[in-house]
Amino acid sequence: MNSENTAVRVLFVCLGNICRSPMAEGVFRERVASAGLSSRITIDSAGTGAWHVGNPPDPRGQAASTDRGIDISSQRARQVDQADFSKFDYVIAMDGSNLDTLKRLAPRNARSQLHLFLEFVPSSVTNTVDRDVPDPYYSGPDGFETVLDLIEAASAGLLAHISSSSAFAPASPSGNISSAT
Ligand code: 4NP
Repeated sequence: MNSENTAVRVLFVCLGNICRSPMAEGVFRERVASAGLSSRITIDSAGTGAWHVGNPPDPRGQAASTDRGIDISSQRARQVDQADFSKFDYVIAMDGSNLDTLKRLAPRNARSQLHLFLEFVPSSVTNTVDRDVPDPYYSGPDGFETVLDLIEAASAGLLAHISSSSAFAPASPSGNISSAT
């Protein structure tokens, strides 16, 4: 397989898939596009819960995202399913509770790497103890701004991590492998 054509697949997961993970999907998609990598990184989001399946992102999250030039209005919530653990290379949880749920759901032969999103933020940027993107559902608009600040920092770190991973390295030029005669 030519790794130059291999997409890395990233799934962002929160509880409802209407606040944090849609904003993470939107921000990360924008960063990937700006880096010219849209054809190589596939991005989606989902929730561990089913309450909001089929719904658009929370209007407060849409408004806060729009203010930063990110349109998430066409997204629709869905629930994580077992197939996600073989489809996606990275399944990225917004908080520790989401991560615990994902670990319980993941089949034994899961291909995906499970991570907390804020693992990708340098500890100098956030405090090192709290690695959760806080749930803004019951907060005011400020909560969504805080979440977007964290998502922007973590998106930069995640893109740097993926770009430097061996799975993402460009294919070596064809004909490089010499055959023994
Ligand atoms: P999210 O926020 O997990 O960031 O999408 C929530 C949205 C809805 C609910 C909880 C969290 N809820 O309980 O309905």
